[in-house]
Amino acid sequence: MIRVVESLKEVREFVAASLRRNQKIGFVPTMGAFHAGHLSLMRQARKDSAIVIVSIFVNPLQFAAGEDYDRYPRQLAKDVRMAESEGVDLIFAPSVAEMYPKGYATYIDQTDLPNKLCGQFRPDHFRGVMSVVGKLFNVITPDTAYLGQKDYQQFLIIRRMAVDLNLDVDVRMLPTAREEDGLAMSSRNIYLGPKQRKDATCLYRALQRAEELVGGGTNNAARVMSEMKRVIQRVKGARIEYIAVVNSETLEPAKEIKGKTLISLAVRIGKARLIDNILV
Ligand code: PAJ
Repeated sequence: MIRVVESLKEVREFVAASLRRNQKIGFVPTMGAFHAGHLSLMRQARKDSAIVIVSIFVNPLQFAAGEDYDRYPRQLAKDVRMAESEGVDLIFAPSVAEMYPKGYATYIDQTDLPNKLCGQFRPDHFRGVMSVVGKLFNVITPDTAYLGQKDYQQFLIIRRMAVDLNLDVDVRMLPTAREEDGLAMSSRNIYLGPKQRKDATCLYRALQRAEELVGGGTNNAARVMSEMKRVIQRVKGARIEYIAVVNSETLEPAKEIKGKTLISLAVRIGKARLIDNILV
């Protein structure tokens, strides 16, 4: 039976009991509104670990004023049923007051990676992500944490944070789960109307075009980016936030595609801000 708890005290007790039994803990941090991408992380955790803990917390710290914090989908009862069918042991679904009680004043920050890509458009976003994930790692003490490639920059930053803060957790990345037409699954896709939903496939189509070019021997990053731009610009309602070809470890712009490279983009369609990427 899955357990759902709201207090840090209950999580601590659950974790302590697991550790006494020498059970390995796999952890999947989320903001809920589950889709197949979230479930794939839980499934892998279930394969690897005796104990699987999932957090569901729409973290106000990582939303800027005017972003979608208030509208973000919340469906705890449904999420619990979905997590239960993946064999999750514990859901931690705290309130904002539980995570950030009155007087809360401590944050985790990092140089370099958080200022790149999405960080240029969401300045305090990754500070909010690191602060909450750092707190969760601290309380849950996972052996392994599972993150999705869809948020590749987030994965890199969290892995760096764990190393830098000497947190003894293996931060693993799993592939992006996609809809049949290639759109990366996201809790935010519900913001798309039917026409916009069709338009939203342009991100994946642009990435496929990039992959095709690279596969065909093109290694000029500017060429790849301009072809991707053309794919997006054919869609009327799509506004490009960025298209980037960067070193997959440093996120520094690459002129030439050689070694492991991340091709990534953020596009606004209506009220939705969509991101996607591939590694080549
Ligand atoms: P959320 O957007 O709910 O995502 C939770 C985890 O699911 C993240 O690791 C994310 O990369 C992964 N994920 C999302 N869409 C995916 C997809 N289509 N395929 C595979 N994995 C996918 O990311 C967050 O929440 C928050 O920033 C969080 C880390 C929980 C901190 O608040």
